[in-house]
Amino acid sequence: MQHLNKRTLLKTAALSAIALAALAGCGKKEEAAAPAAAPAPAAAAPAADKLKIAFMYVSPIGDGGWTFQHDLGRKAIQEKFGDKIETSFVESVPESADAERVMRDMAGQGNQLIFATSFGYQEFVQKAAADLPDVKFEHATGYKQAANVATYDTKTFEGAYLAGIVAGGMSKTKTVGVVASVPIPEVVRNINSFVLGAQSVDPSIKAKVVWVNEWFSPPKEAEAATSLINGGVDVMYQNTNSPAVLKTAEERGMRAFGKDGDMSAFAPKAHLGSAVIDWTPYYTKVVTDTLGGQWQSGNFWWGVKEGAIDLLKIADDVPQDIKDRVAKARAGLKDGSFAVWTGPVKDNTGKELLGAGQVADDKFLTGINFYVAGVEGKVPGTEGK
Ligand code: GUN
Repeated sequence: MQHLNKRTLLKTAALSAIALAALAGCGKKEEAAAPAAAPAPAAAAPAADKLKIAFMYVSPIGDGGWTFQHDLGRKAIQEKFGDKIETSFVESVPESADAERVMRDMAGQGNQLIFATSFGYQEFVQKAAADLPDVKFEHATGYKQAANVATYDTKTFEGAYLAGIVAGGMSKTKTVGVVASVPIPEVVRNINSFVLGAQSVDPSIKAKVVWVNEWFSPPKEAEAATSLINGGVDVMYQNTNSPAVLKTAEERGMRAFGKDGDMSAFAPKAHLGSAVIDWTPYYTKVVTDTLGGQWQSGNFWWGVKEGAIDLLKIADDVPQDIKDRVAKARAGLKDGSFAVWTGPVKDNTGKELLGAGQVADDKFLTGINFYVAGVEGKVPGTEGK
C-alpha cells in the first residue's frame, strides 16, 4: 500500500483521542495527510499490468465509522485482487478545492481509478473528471454522473430504521435523539427513518435533532449528544463519523448506536447495536469491472438486500420481541416485501406525504427535506417555508 501526500498534520486537534485509539487498533501508524499538500515526488512507476487505485477520505481512517469502513473495503480489495492492483489513500481531505488538487495529484501519480468518498467532493470530482477523461471516478453519495464518473451509496436509511426499532423498544423517556451532520437529503432521510423505526414499535415516540454541520468533529458530536440528553433524550443515533455520541451516552448512563462501523468496543454498556456499512461488495464489483474492461458510469444504491448495510451486535438486554421485529423487517428488506418508506407518512406539520400503502420511489427518497411527525423543529434551510 502506498500512502500519497504524507505530511505531518499540524492541526493535531483534529485527531481525537478516539481516532488515535482506533489507529493504534489498526496495528499501523498512519499520518493524517495535510489537505493541501505540496505536489508529492513522482511515485515509482507501477508495473504496467497493475491497476492503480486511490481513495480520498474526508476524515481519518481511525474515525471508527464512515472512513474506517471505506478503508476496510480498500483493504479487502487489495487482499482479494493481490498484485493485480495497487491501492493507496489520502485521509482528512476537506470538501474544498483541496479535494480537487488531491485528485489531480492522484491521477498524476498514475492512478486510473479514484474513489472520492464524501458527498461534498461532488463539484471537485466533476471538475477533475472533466479534465482527466482517461481516469475513472467513483463518487460516494453524489448524484452527478459523467462518462467517467459513477456515483454510489448504501441505503443507510435501512440501517437507521432497524436501529429505530431497537430505540423504540428501549426508550423510557419516549424521546429519542439524533446528532446530525450536514443537512443534505441523505441525512434527513436517515433521521426520519430512525424515527419511523422507533414509532413502528411505539407511535408516541418523539425525537429531537442537533446539527453539528460537520461529518467529523468528536468534540462537537459529544456536545450535541450532551444537549440531547439534557433535553430528555435517553436513546441516540448519529449521522456523524465518530463514536463520540456513544461515548457520551456511556458516560451519562444512556444508550446509543454505532453507525457505519462496528462501534461496540467504544462503549460496551451504552451500545445498542451498530448500523454497519459493508463497501466491499461494491468495491469488488468496480474492480472486477475495471480489470475486465467493463467499467461503466451509473448510479448504484445498494442496501440490506445486497448485503451493503445491516444492524449488527444488538445488545443482550434488548427484549426478544424487539429483536424479532428487527429480524422481520430485515427479512422483508432482503426479499423486497417491505420498504421503510411506506405510507401513511406525515410530516411534522400534519401534511400527508405518502398515502396509506404508497411506497416512496427514489425521487421521493432523494429529495426528503422535511421531518416526519414526532420530530421537533425544522430541517435547516426550510425554516421560513
Ligand atoms: N462523508 C462523511 N460521512 C458521510 C456520510 O455519512 N454521508 C455522506 N454522504 N458523506 C459523508
